[in-house]
Amino acid sequence: MTAIGRNFFIFSFSIFLILFIQAILQERYTYKYSKIPTRFKCEPQKNHYHHHEEKYITLTFKTIRGGAGLGNQLFEIFALLGMARTLGRVPFFNEQDPSVVNNLGLLLETVPKAVDEFKILAITNRSLATVYRNSPACCMFEMHPLLKCETYQYVIIDGFNFQSFKYFENLKIRDFFTPSPEQKLKIDRKIKESSNTTCIHYQRGDFLLDNLHEGTNGTYLKKSIEFLRENYSTGSIYIFGNDPKWVQDLMENNDYKSEKIHIMNTPMKNALEDLHFSHQFCESVIITAPSSTFGWFMGYLSKNQRNVYYRDIYDTMDLVKHQMISADFYPPIWKILKF
Ligand SMILES: *[C@@H]1O[C@H](CO)[C@@H](O)[C@H](O)[C@H]1NC(C)=O
Ligand SMILES: *[C@@H]1O[C@H](CO)[C@@H](O)[C@H](O)[C@H]1NC(C)=O
Ligand SMILES: *[C@@H]1O[C@H](CO)[C@@H](O)[C@H](O)[C@H]1NC(C)=O
Ligand SMILES: *[C@@H]1O[C@H](CO)[C@@H](O)[C@H](O)[C@H]1NC(C)=O
Repeated sequence: MTAIGRNFFIFSFSIFLILFIQAILQERYTYKYSKIPTRFKCEPQKNHYHHHEEKYITLTFKTIRGGAGLGNQLFEIFALLGMARTLGRVPFFNEQDPSVVNNLGLLLETVPKAVDEFKILAITNRSLATVYRNSPACCMFEMHPLLKCETYQYVIIDGFNFQSFKYFENLKIRDFFTPSPEQKLKIDRKIKESSNTTCIHYQRGDFLLDNLHEGTNGTYLKKSIEFLRENYSTGSIYIFGNDPKWVQDLMENNDYKSEKIHIMNTPMKNALEDLHFSHQFCESVIITAPSSTFGWFMGYLSKNQRNVYYRDIYDTMDLVKHQMISADFYPPIWKILKF
């Protein structure tokens, strides 16, 4: 073998080895939902007699296993909680799926009361389980009509994101976000003047890099401030997002500078504080990056749903618009804000 040939061999072999180890790890840490077939056992008339036997429901939880952002994880957990209530099933995390059960940290910290409603159990017998497969679109509501009469003991819904408020309209989500006394103290310290507070959410950072979302447009953000000043004139405006320096620069050299405008500087790991702030203080919220799930939760948790505004995604280059069903994502009481 020539030196080049040998190097090439070693190189190929290393790649092979890496792929092989990856495959083994994946095998080990990912439960194989694909081994459970989709099948329906609908016995509506019989259903009533089976209440003694607890029935379960779970998701494949792609956002939790992938360590996605808080907004995305919240959508999945509340979607499942809502569906479980509607269907009279107990929501559960699959004990045999370590990449989900070992990744619950963020949710435990944020909405422990919601996580508490889940059981952790194993699907001991695959022939008692069925998998329903949903569309891969992010923001649409999809509940198979047969789910209501399904009699398999374990139902697994394999889908992406579950970003629709329609899954959990039957829950009082705000109650899960009531801050603890210590958390309350922390956010009280952030507020300068607590009456008629209005809020703006923007998103830059990851949204500028992923070739999918579009980050907040500076012009739109400035116009949002004008809108709040004219229409909710008495209180302070708090601006939340992941690039305070960018907002600061935007405010330089113009007359937006004001004692009533506060650019918040919450570290990513404390993002929960922004949700608490909205829950406690925001009388109005403007969502300037229309596909931001975190912005969405800031709006949904805020005090007055009639005063939530969002940018029309169809006015932007945000590619999420191609998989978005607006009526499933934005509550009808919210308003599109165009300038
Ligand atoms: C699994 O469930 C099926 C259907 O109820 C049953 O026939 C089978 O015996 C069970 N298998 C085990 C190992 O319990
Ligand atoms: C922001 O929006 C304005 C007005 O719609 C547009 O002229 C401008 O090009 C946009 N900026 C960016 C960076 O997309
Ligand atoms: C205030 O609200 C009204 C009604 O929605 C709107 O026409 C007006 O443009 C808003 N003001 C600003 C500065 O955007
Ligand atoms: C808050 O807004 C309401 C209605 O616009 C107004 O009547 C009230 O005086 C405001 N409160 C403060 C403290 O500015």
